[in-house]
Amino acid sequence: MTDAGNVRIDAGLLDRSIVLVGLMGAGKTSVGRRLARELGLPFLDADEEIEAAAGCSISDFFELHGEAEFRAGERRVIERLLTGPVCVLATGGGAFMDPATREAIRRHGISVWLRADLDVLVKRVGRRNNRPLLQGGDQRRILQDLMTTRYPVYGQADVIVDSCDGPHDDVVRDAVVRLSAFLAAAPDAGAPAAP
Ligand code: S3P
Repeated sequence: MTDAGNVRIDAGLLDRSIVLVGLMGAGKTSVGRRLARELGLPFLDADEEIEAAAGCSISDFFELHGEAEFRAGERRVIERLLTGPVCVLATGGGAFMDPATREAIRRHGISVWLRADLDVLVKRVGRRNNRPLLQGGDQRRILQDLMTTRYPVYGQADVIVDSCDGPHDDVVRDAVVRLSAFLAAAPDAGAPAAP
């Protein structure tokens, strides 16, 4: 459990999960896993849960059913995860762009945008070759276009944390500080209403 500033993050969550959003390569899974450990919360990865539910990889899912079906499945899985026990949840890069998924995150979570610049994203996505949106094109160009359309929407997140090219632990520390500040300033903003 973390006591950063004078707000205990675990107590301040009021039944809300911490939901990491941001582009491919922003570090949502790596940072999320570490953040969960730091806060003593379970960690879940939406993409992994979608793969488990679908019984196939995300690349295969895109190929077999297309992006629209993927977004519908993603919406269902994220809604289910967010109505379960409080956790740190890493979402796929397109999740927060879907209005219904964004609304579910707003109702049940505190969103944290891991913002990264283009060079960092390009460097990180180059390590894996399993992202359907980056197949068969110039990755830098695709990411640049996605930044243009998505960054204004990611900017609606409750908390923004810069994901720099340094150690992930530095990003986790910054996330804890900013989450504490957010909870101190608006402790129950967006928290589900009491029955
Ligand atoms: C996507 C990002 C991927 C995955 C899918 C679509 C996107 O997740 O959900 O390939 O639309 O940006 P990561 O952001 O974890 O790579």
